[in-house]
Amino acid sequence: MINVAIDGPSGAGKSTISKMVAEKLGITYLDTGAMYRAVALYAYRKGIDVNDQERVVPLLDDVDISFELKDGQKIILLNGEDVSQAIREHYVSKLASDVSKIPQVRKFLVAMQRKIAETTDVVLDGRDITSYVLPNAKFKFYLTATAEERATRRYKELTAKGQEVDFDRILNDIIDRDYNDMNRDFAPLVQTQDSVYIDSTHLSIDEVAAIIIGTVTGATKA
Ligand code: DC
Repeated sequence: MINVAIDGPSGAGKSTISKMVAEKLGITYLDTGAMYRAVALYAYRKGIDVNDQERVVPLLDDVDISFELKDGQKIILLNGEDVSQAIREHYVSKLASDVSKIPQVRKFLVAMQRKIAETTDVVLDGRDITSYVLPNAKFKFYLTATAEERATRRYKELTAKGQEVDFDRILNDIIDRDYNDMNRDFAPLVQTQDSVYIDSTHLSIDEVAAIIIGTVTGATKA
């Protein structure tokens, strides 16, 4: 199986680039962050504090996550409901980061991710793919950019949509989430030594995608 594992902090462009790479390689894309977001959304809708491990863990028995193609777009289903839009709401980002600290939540989702990777050619992006989910993946990348650059990209994206946003708040949210994701006890975000490090601060999406595709296809041909 071809497994391309891409980790990095929030807003580094992982999902856009992973989607492009998967499309160019003709393989599947698995957005593991969406899975944490779906669990967070489920707990939130049940009125449960995502930091309350004792109350979150039993919920996992009632969570069914799957992906489907709808009009050519990959959608995520939570117990059969399309939550692709709902999980992208800003408030869900921090909830997802918090819920992802719970080891049982991680084990639950990691088991699904490993099963998919065992049977499918796939590009996976997340925080712990290269270090914990698939440490033996043939292709491993760590994609990052400075916090300021990631905040600037997010700011432009939101203002282009007509939303009124505060740059400092976006930057602070990014810094907070980085801290959360890099400092949790279980499977934190780390850069593994065998990952190709890509700092995209001064690179375009196409340039980053080209580095990844070049590495994968170069190695595949060899
Ligand atoms: O990539 P994202 O912003 O959609 O991810 C949301 C949160 O989920 C992120 O802040 C941390 C968590 N996450 C994780 O812990 N491990 C992953 N493999 C993917 C996401």
